[in-house]
Amino acid sequence: MRANRRVTVLQKHLLPEVNGPTTINPTASSAASYRGLLHNQVAVITGSGQGVGASAAKLFASEGASVVVTDIDATKSDAVAAEIEAAGGRAISFPGDVLAEDFPAKLIAATLEAFGKLHILVNNAGYTWDAVLHKTTTEQWNAMLAVHCTAPFRLIQAAEPAMRGAAKEELAATGKAMPRCILNVSSTSGVHGNAGQANYSTAKMGIVGLTKTIAKEWGGFNIRCNVLVFGAIKTRLIGDKTAGATMDIGGKQVALGIPGGADPDDMAIYAGCPMKRAGEPKEAAGSLLILACEHASYINGVALEVTGGSFL
Ligand SMILES: NC(=O)c1ccc[n+]([C@@H]2O[C@H](COP(=O)([O-])OP(=O)(O)OC[C@H]3O[C@@H](n4cnc5c(N)ncnc54)[C@H](O)[C@@H]3O)[C@@H](O)[C@H]2O)c1
Repeated sequence: MRANRRVTVLQKHLLPEVNGPTTINPTASSAASYRGLLHNQVAVITGSGQGVGASAAKLFASEGASVVVTDIDATKSDAVAAEIEAAGGRAISFPGDVLAEDFPAKLIAATLEAFGKLHILVNNAGYTWDAVLHKTTTEQWNAMLAVHCTAPFRLIQAAEPAMRGAAKEELAATGKAMPRCILNVSSTSGVHGNAGQANYSTAKMGIVGLTKTIAKEWGGFNIRCNVLVFGAIKTRLIGDKTAGATMDIGGKQVALGIPGGADPDDMAIYAGCPMKRAGEPKEAAGSLLILACEHASYINGVALEVTGGSFL
């Protein structure tokens, strides 16, 4: 009897909130009015012509963001933007080399011209140029620092007026800045080291330091900065080197991929992945979405390992 009364009292207090129609059982009209986790947001994603970046561009657009697709490969960049538009999303393609001196300013200008604002900047563009330490040339070393550290640094600086500057004005006008964020991309090679990747590992650890510094400098402007630390993700980056994929670095064709063509799932198993498989690009994109959306509004300065549990 007493127990029943307690249940009734609990139901009275808890059920409207817990089992209310807008939480557990959404009505048809609330489902129809769902506008996406990134509704009204403008996102720039570098290296979004393929792989993780392309997957993120499509996912962000499907969640309501206006997306600037940008990649050194113009054909792929244009194709991803066209695919988003064909699916009913909003996107432009603004291809280019993130290392070009004038590219960051042009990219941000094109973003503002197309969409008027910038809320999310994803520094994802990258590649590998592997060698064991004693055979790594200065050119290889510098190339990795340039694409994985200097390019994000210069892009974030170029975005400063549209992000920190805009937030500063909002704070002065209303006392509140709208949510913005920067997402950088690292690797388990950066956080844990990897034989044959002294250059890449050093650069991918550098971006972690840059991330945490921006998180401290810009957090007061409601601009969060986090870094995704990816394990093996099934993209061209870890494909078979003999497949012939290359990057043009100053006129030199750098072969991409892993010598010997290791199976990505085997790479994950070698790294101690309890899930015994490599990740899909859409799973890496999902982690970017999680940190970009408002539900992550108090997550700042984090290096999130997206590895299926490798290196635990
Ligand atoms: N795939 C993995 O296993 C893995 C693991 C850890 C980290 N990462 C990181 O994830 C990011 C995305 O890589 P991915 O796996 O999708 O590889 P990917 O090769 O499929 O895509 C990378 C994209 O970056 C572009 N890019 C490279 N240099 C550029 C430049 N200078 N300017 C403009 N675009 C440029 C390439 O054209 C390509 O489209 C990279 O930063 C990579 O280091 C990948």
